[in-house]
Amino acid sequence: MHLLHRKADSPPLDQKEEVRRKHIRLHVEGALTARDKVGVQDFVLLDAYTSESAFLDNLRKRFSENLIYTYIGTLLVSVNPYQELGIYTLSQMELYQGVNFFELPPHVYAIADNAYRMMCSELNNHFILISGESGAGKTEASKKILQYFAVTCPMTESLQIARDRLLFSNPVLEAFGNAKTLRNDNSSRFGKYMDIQFDFKGIPVGGHIISYLIEKSRVVYQNQGERNFHIFYQLLEGGEEELLAYLGLERDPQLYKYLSQGRCAKESSVNDKNDWKTVSNAFSVIDFTKDDLENLFGIIASVLHLGNIGFEENQQGCASVPDTHEIKWIAKLLGVDPWVLLEALTHRKIEAKTEEVICPLTLELSAYARDAMAKAVYGRTFTWLVNKINSSLVNKDFTGKTVIGLLDIYGFEVFDKNGFEQFCINYCNEKLQQLLIERTLKAEQAEYEMEGIEWEPIQYFNNKIICDLVEERHKGIISILDEECVRPGPATDLSFLERLEEKVGKHAHFETRKLAGPRGRKKIGWMEFRLFHYAGEVTYCARGFLEKNNDLLYRHLKEVLCRSKNRILKECFLVAELENRRRAPTVGTQFKNSLSSLLEILISKEPSYIRCIKPNESKEPSKFDDFLIRHQVKYLGLMEHLRVRRAGFAYRRKYEHFLQRYKSLCPDTWPHWHGPPEEGVERLIKYIGYKPEEYKLGRTKIFIRFPRTLFATEDAFEFSKHQLVARIQATYKRCLERRAYVRKRQAAITLEAHWRGALARKEAKRRKWAVQTVRKFIKGFINRNKPLCPDNEEFIVFVRKNYILNLRHHVPKNVLDKSWLRPPGILETASDLLRKMCTRNLVRKYCHGITAERRALMQEKVVMSEIFEGKKEGYTESLHQPFANSRVDEGDINPKVLQLLSSEKIQYGVPVIKYDRKGFKTRQRQLILTQKAAYVVELAKIKQKIEYPALKGVSTSSLSDGILVIHILQADIKQKGDVILQCEHIFEAVTKLAMLVKKENLVNVVQGSLQFCISPGKEGTIVFDTGPEEQIYKDKNGQLTVVSVCPKS
Ligand SMILES: Nc1ncnc2c1ncn2[C@@H]1O[C@H](COP(=O)(O)OP(=O)(O)O)[C@@H](O)[C@H]1O
Ligand SMILES: [Mg+2]
Repeated sequence: MHLLHRKADSPPLDQKEEVRRKHIRLHVEGALTARDKVGVQDFVLLDAYTSESAFLDNLRKRFSENLIYTYIGTLLVSVNPYQELGIYTLSQMELYQGVNFFELPPHVYAIADNAYRMMCSELNNHFILISGESGAGKTEASKKILQYFAVTCPMTESLQIARDRLLFSNPVLEAFGNAKTLRNDNSSRFGKYMDIQFDFKGIPVGGHIISYLIEKSRVVYQNQGERNFHIFYQLLEGGEEELLAYLGLERDPQLYKYLSQGRCAKESSVNDKNDWKTVSNAFSVIDFTKDDLENLFGIIASVLHLGNIGFEENQQGCASVPDTHEIKWIAKLLGVDPWVLLEALTHRKIEAKTEEVICPLTLELSAYARDAMAKAVYGRTFTWLVNKINSSLVNKDFTGKTVIGLLDIYGFEVFDKNGFEQFCINYCNEKLQQLLIERTLKAEQAEYEMEGIEWEPIQYFNNKIICDLVEERHKGIISILDEECVRPGPATDLSFLERLEEKVGKHAHFETRKLAGPRGRKKIGWMEFRLFHYAGEVTYCARGFLEKNNDLLYRHLKEVLCRSKNRILKECFLVAELENRRRAPTVGTQFKNSLSSLLEILISKEPSYIRCIKPNESKEPSKFDDFLIRHQVKYLGLMEHLRVRRAGFAYRRKYEHFLQRYKSLCPDTWPHWHGPPEEGVERLIKYIGYKPEEYKLGRTKIFIRFPRTLFATEDAFEFSKHQLVARIQATYKRCLERRAYVRKRQAAITLEAHWRGALARKEAKRRKWAVQTVRKFIKGFINRNKPLCPDNEEFIVFVRKNYILNLRHHVPKNVLDKSWLRPPGILETASDLLRKMCTRNLVRKYCHGITAERRALMQEKVVMSEIFEGKKEGYTESLHQPFANSRVDEGDINPKVLQLLSSEKIQYGVPVIKYDRKGFKTRQRQLILTQKAAYVVELAKIKQKIEYPALKGVSTSSLSDGILVIHILQADIKQKGDVILQCEHIFEAVTKLAMLVKKENLVNVVQGSLQFCISPGKEGTIVFDTGPEEQIYKDKNGQLTVVSVCPKS
């Protein structure tokens, strides 16, 4: 199971990435075949790795093919091509982005990317140390790295400004801190350490710059063929007319003494006009206001004016200024009083116990004062500039950040004449070399020993001895120089040299003319001393050491500057300084201290190294100066480095950290390994298939010999990371989902609870209402019979309403329908009324609906009912039998009778049986009723006519017989007597008669018996009785007995 070789068949991360990787592989393969012919791209692969010539051959071969970069393991060796090679394009940057170090040809981008990726994955700080002598390409390399980060790092819109400021701080600092020297047309005359800060996403969010000792002496003096700082020339070349006029400057640099001493103000390789544009643009990006720029260029211009101040000796042998033109310009630009300035330049204040004495300066001292002022002003303005840039780079967010530091410091420098500046510069390079030795050769070997790895020590030159020579307390050159500076009595550069001879004369790396043997003597002057630096011997002229170390600015001038109205100078020269009587540390000591704090900064970070080599002294492309390069290879310790690399291990890591990073590659160690870390690592590397020659296990660390092993592991990790990420994502998403679900559920429950609550409350309300209603109902029911009061009011209203509403459905449909909804007690009256109304209404309707004939019939029936209802047996049955108009047709009546009655209209006729009043003999007769009278007719004879007025009454019995007696008034008794008739249609006949007679109480229904008038004064009786069968007979008493059948009850 070889995880390390799984990459080939692993699924693509995504298509775009796969295409990119393919492109890289092609590139690498193509490049490699081409490059195989031009040496090796990593010196570690060199067969004759101990041979310097083989080393140089490889370098030369590659250089001749314009392959300027070669690795020694992870260290990059770069040879300055002195030409544009087209290897810093955007596509190149993209190519190197996120690719394993050794997958692509060596490049400064690979170093940058490697540091960046390590920083991102391990969240630690890094620095890239770029070393090499002046002109070897350090500054260029640092710029390339910065550009690489700017282009390839992730970026958000809001942080773009931070990135731009990081980028644009460079041209500004270069304009003010770089100059053309004999070694380099764009030589950094200050040291620069720049921290690029990244947030946890790897976005560059800010930065910080520390500058080291700017070579101020250049402001006032340049060697032949050298220039002052670029900014002066840029201002004169590119500055707008108005600006120059405002500053009182002319366009020609030859007019300024500070610019013309080196005799090369115009330099073909430098385009000051274009650079001015770049710098102006950069100023706007890094947040400089118009006011800032006015003040800044005021200072730059006043330095130029200062240089042009000429002194003359007056009669007293003191300096005077014949032409105050320049003084006035300076006074205007710096906002100081011209006369005070003039005095300060030509006089010196001496403080004697209680009073100040002002004494004039000699010509020489005045010139010194002027130059000191120019240097101080420029030097402090440069510091102000760095601070200002820092404040624009600062990231105000306090979250944790990691940094990559870029150290680009002046390179080792040897001129024909070397002064204090070169001394400092070369000392600085010694220190950096020391750091490199400490961190690589020494530390590495010490580590192997400590970890118990078999190791054959490799010899190398440790330059600590030279560092000590320079910096040791009390014994080092700097201490001796300081002592000379403060020593009472006349100290001169010569006395300093003597002190050196005295104190460090015996040091193997120190030599003076006096100390040198007869052979060396010729090359050293009387005022010179020689140091054998790690990079070669350098002869320094002691002249000016004291003065430059003291860096003295006369108090008088300092006062003037403290009172300046120029805002920048105000910040640079604080009044507090005047009051501080303590001596400021010397330049040498300051520099020593700043270097030691720089080393502290660097030691805490992970290093990457770039070693720059200068191929020739003439800045020519394609010229490979063997001697020069061999020398650099030697002093840079590249051979030793290679030997250590070859013998050693490319990579080491504490077991814990190694395990922590790669534990996901082995099921035994993932997710947690509980045993000792070294066992875990062992298990892990066995699982992923490390071969025995690929690694060694130390006491606390694992050592991996070849980078490829590590990179393969890293690839495997990268692959497994995607799976892990997917799992973590899944878990996280699940967690999120679950959280969301729980929240939703909670919300639903709450909602439900509220809803149920609302429903329950509604229900409770409803029930309460129901209970109240029922209770009210019951109470109302109990009190229903009481007078209307609150207790029963509603009930009654309800009952009423209910009854009325119910009644709707039970209203009788016709007159005969006697049903009626039983009313509640309280509604009886109303019900009655309603019932009556209803009945009346029905009756009315009924009445309206009936015909005239039927109406007449009904009227007859009504009359009948008035007469007989409840009085006579058979009445009820008779109701159903409709009355006939007549029971005899006109044809049945004898025409004679008809004739007799012709004047009267016959209203009704019925056959009857007439009983004789005396014997009760029966005879068939017809009873005919007219409008005026009733007639008893026998065939053609009217037997009796009873006129209605003479009709006293009519009697019937209460039984079911058909007997009717017509009583006649006594006055009319001639009429024989009452008439006894039996009629089958007794009800009809009597009713018709009663209607015609129109007399109240005409008909009398009797019970038991009745009296009738037989003749005037003589009465007879008719007895009515019931029996089993109908009978009419004259009884023994002579009474007529009428027996009716008793109705079945
Ligand atoms: N990688 C490079 N490609 C092209 N030219 C380079 C490169 N490195 C350096 N140079 C040239 O060499 C000159 C000096 O380089 P520089 O980086 O300023 O040197 P240093 O900072 O080491 O003194 C640059 O101005 C440039 O012309
Ligand atoms: Mg440089």
